[in-house]
Amino acid sequence: MTSKGSVYEQDFQYSKGSLDVTPRDWFLLAWSHFRREIALYMNQIARNSRVMVIVGVGEGGFVPDVVGAQAIGIDINRKALVNADRRLDLIVCSASHLPMRDNSVDLVYFELVLHHLKGQMDLAVPFTESHRILMPNGRMVAVEPNRLHPSGFLLNLLNVFHLYASVFGGSNYEYSLTTKELTIPLSCFSGFEVKPLSFHHPRFPLFLHNYIMKREAFLKKHFSSFAWMVLVAAVK
Ligand SMILES: C[S@@+](CC[C@H](N)C(=O)[O-])C[C@H]1O[C@@H](n2cnc3c(N)ncnc32)[C@H](O)[C@@H]1O
Repeated sequence: MTSKGSVYEQDFQYSKGSLDVTPRDWFLLAWSHFRREIALYMNQIARNSRVMVIVGVGEGGFVPDVVGAQAIGIDINRKALVNADRRLDLIVCSASHLPMRDNSVDLVYFELVLHHLKGQMDLAVPFTESHRILMPNGRMVAVEPNRLHPSGFLLNLLNVFHLYASVFGGSNYEYSLTTKELTIPLSCFSGFEVKPLSFHHPRFPLFLHNYIMKREAFLKKHFSSFAWMVLVAAVK
């Protein structure tokens, strides 16, 4: 049976839309800052994990720089795995049915995936699956675009009409998320935290990046609800 995900995601291409004329340095600045923040947070957690599952790993994103840990990358889109990091054990499957035994992994990580799953299924499904495969005290971490950032708002507006792929590139079935949507399905976990991650965006001009860079600590403290990306971490 073909799932919604395998149909929606097969032509996914980031930043290949007709209106996307983002200068390369804007793009690189926003993404490198974002990836650095993730690595700072995740390397710490990954260091204590023997088995880690990265869901929707695609061609990019965080891979721990830890020797000795087993890192498994899964994605529904076979084409996306062709260029995936070779340090990972790769599996083609959906986040809705993770092929791991109950209580068998230390860490489940979603990077920019749940907002794709939102168009395919109830978000309680991947969270329940993560909870099932995690060992007691295991962690689930997700990093997702925030609906209250202007880019998150625009994404959802365009995808009311399934137009995001043709305008900016991406998927016509991805939708930014609210903190509520990310945390309500976490009731099966014993505790969770929410952190604003970055206020940049690849389509912001350089002067705005510089402004944000200088005030990021202030923005995180007083305007956390409007971050570009939000990180949610939960403990089983
Ligand atoms: C925006 S990309 C993120 C890729 C990578 N994690 C990163 O941070 O660059 C979203 C990924 O989720 C994958 N995906 C979408 N639906 C999925 C599903 N149901 N199960 C597993 N992966 C899925 C897509 O194929 C795609 O590779």
